[in-house]
Amino acid sequence: MSPAPDPSLFDKVVNLCKRRGFVFPSAEIYGGFRSTYDYGPVGVLLLRNVKEAWWRSMVQLRHDVVGLDAAILSPPAIWEASGHLQNFTDPLVDCRNCRERFRLDKLDDSDECPNCHAKGSFTEARQFNLMFKTYAGPVEGAGNEVYLRPETAQGMFVNFKNVLETSRKRPPFGIAQIGKSFRNEITPGNFVFRTREFEQMEMEYFVSPDEAGQWYEYWCDERLQWYVDLGIPADQLRLRAHGENELSHYSVATSDVEFLFPWGWDELEGVANRTDYDLSQHAKMSGESLDFFDPASGERFIPYVIEPAAGATRTAMAFLMAAYDEEEVAREGQGQGETRTVLRFHHRIAPYKVAVLPLSKKPELQEPANVVLGLLQPHFMCDYDETQAIGRRYRRQDELGTPYCVTIDFETLDDRAVTVRDRDSMAQDRVPIDALLDHLAPKLS
Ligand code: GAP
Repeated sequence: MSPAPDPSLFDKVVNLCKRRGFVFPSAEIYGGFRSTYDYGPVGVLLLRNVKEAWWRSMVQLRHDVVGLDAAILSPPAIWEASGHLQNFTDPLVDCRNCRERFRLDKLDDSDECPNCHAKGSFTEARQFNLMFKTYAGPVEGAGNEVYLRPETAQGMFVNFKNVLETSRKRPPFGIAQIGKSFRNEITPGNFVFRTREFEQMEMEYFVSPDEAGQWYEYWCDERLQWYVDLGIPADQLRLRAHGENELSHYSVATSDVEFLFPWGWDELEGVANRTDYDLSQHAKMSGESLDFFDPASGERFIPYVIEPAAGATRTAMAFLMAAYDEEEVAREGQGQGETRTVLRFHHRIAPYKVAVLPLSKKPELQEPANVVLGLLQPHFMCDYDETQAIGRRYRRQDELGTPYCVTIDFETLDDRAVTVRDRDSMAQDRVPIDALLDHLAPKLS
């Protein structure tokens, strides 16, 4: 049985994000800017680690996937061919009573305003296109329109031929990309879960039409397992197949990887069978042939595409929520109990891997502390902190999710050894500086 969602977790994580420098509201000194967020010194490390873990699993450790970094600005022709100009819309309703706007398909009751509870107060639904439009060059007018991409996927379809000709890959093979996407969401919210500017991690896997079904199953399983391998408990994850009426205009089958957020199950990633829809559309609109000739079988076909499409920013939030823990502990170094907050990140996801903490700011401890930092920094992302009592510094590192703290004390001056403290067990080991790298490397590799 799945655990119940914990609504109190939401505020705890949002507060911790602000307090410890994970995420700040954008343009905060001007009062914030419409559900837009900036990633602070720790958040940027977390986000990079999420993206690197994805790239490692999807590109580095495979022989059948190559990378791409396509432009964000794109001409209307791409979005006409992809169907986004016509179909990438959400149904928008206004409440005549309180003037709030809603997505009709996200309302629990399509007749009652969730804000003022008026009944029957909604306007007729209008289809609202989610793409941001702007103009290239100094003249704003017809012929100069460009769009900020609402998904990274199209950059991979329009480069299919370039990649096929230069990479020596043949179906089944994939093109992977990480980058920003933009959607003029009607109702952004739930912190970084739904924002207008966000990062995606998408892979388009090109296969023969006969094999599309089996590759779809394969990628559903692979992608679910990726989150488990990086420490999200399996009972907080599930795969949910879309019903007929939920499918995007390009998909014949989609399953979402869902996470148990504080408000209930919600989407982390979609795995879709996009058929040959996109390549066929681009071939038709551009006049370029985008089919593949298989010399082995003598067959010519337009590949089908299986697409695992994840959100990096949304996934970072899920890792934060899954890692958050509070426990009663004895105060380190003292008798009384206290509640410690700890982010139990998988070490690959943790922003800092090691914190180097000289017991005091005295110059005689700074020298060995700098030696230790210099030893570790080429291998691991390290934090260095010499302020406050050591117990408080451990608590701070617990809240950052740092797996190991290395403390340099006055004994270090005699024995050239340091104390290594484990985040999860709080156990402490005395390790010679000369052996420190060998001690930490297997735990963090
Ligand atoms: N190429 C297919 C595609 O874009 P999607 O389900 O619309 O599919 C994929 O988006 C993933 O991108 C979602 O599962 C989600 O993680 C992320 N995503 C989509 N819209 C988002 C938003 N407004 N804010 C944050 N993440 C978003």
